[in-house]
Amino acid sequence: MSGKSEKSKHDKHIGFGIDIGGSGIKGAPVDLRKGELTDDRLRIPTPQPATPDAVAEVVTKVLDHFGWDREFGCTLPAVVQHGVVRTAANIDHSWIGTDAHELMKNATGRKALVVNDADAAGVAEVRFGAAKGNSGVVLVSTLGTGIGSAMVIDGKLWPNTELGHLEIDGYDAEKRAADSAREREDLDWDGWAERLTRYYGVVESLLRPDLIVVGGGVSKKSAKWMSKVDIHTKMVPAELLNEAGIIGAAVLAAGH
Ligand code: BGC
Repeated sequence: MSGKSEKSKHDKHIGFGIDIGGSGIKGAPVDLRKGELTDDRLRIPTPQPATPDAVAEVVTKVLDHFGWDREFGCTLPAVVQHGVVRTAANIDHSWIGTDAHELMKNATGRKALVVNDADAAGVAEVRFGAAKGNSGVVLVSTLGTGIGSAMVIDGKLWPNTELGHLEIDGYDAEKRAADSAREREDLDWDGWAERLTRYYGVVESLLRPDLIVVGGGVSKKSAKWMSKVDIHTKMVPAELLNEAGIIGAAVLAAGH
């Protein structure tokens, strides 16, 4: 444990977030006022198969590494309704029906708040990142293996919106427009932007957000494609990138 973490362990303005993804489980203490990590994050590869018990074991290792013994926040790439996992589009199917709050509490000995990954990222972007200071209806959309969505209305999260699974032109939208679809089908930026125009066009017509913040690894390359997405709503790249999930999870767990 580093000296920094030892000190922050008792500070009520410091929380802890863990982001569980398909390839890595990442965690760090978070300054809840600034929305910044207070120490280098630790990343451990996601165990395969990523069963609830195997994942909870890694989560315990991350917490132990920082000597964190209070409540923490944790993301999952799934619908998580009051702690219970309801879907598993891109994670091990054994998660479905798992009470993730109970699982984490029993495995780690600490209280946990488990939330959808995009919801956590959304809260972080609205609080501290690309949508900071925006009221109204903000959609934070993450483009990765799947498409995640967070709807934040006047600063308040409407959880588990799952807009990546809208059925568009007969397809589950994320199968055509996620970053993984661009890679799988070897689409060029123009070809992918057309898919995104169709996707965000439907989202726009149904929900009329005031602002769309796009996250996920490919948002770092937004200069290559974002201006080609032809919709009316203002669209900006996310700012907190791969720290958004950790920060949002920590903030939600602390009830800030
Ligand atoms: C899942 C969502 C998740 C998103 C991004 C989708 O396939 O259904 O729950 O937020 O991927 O990981």
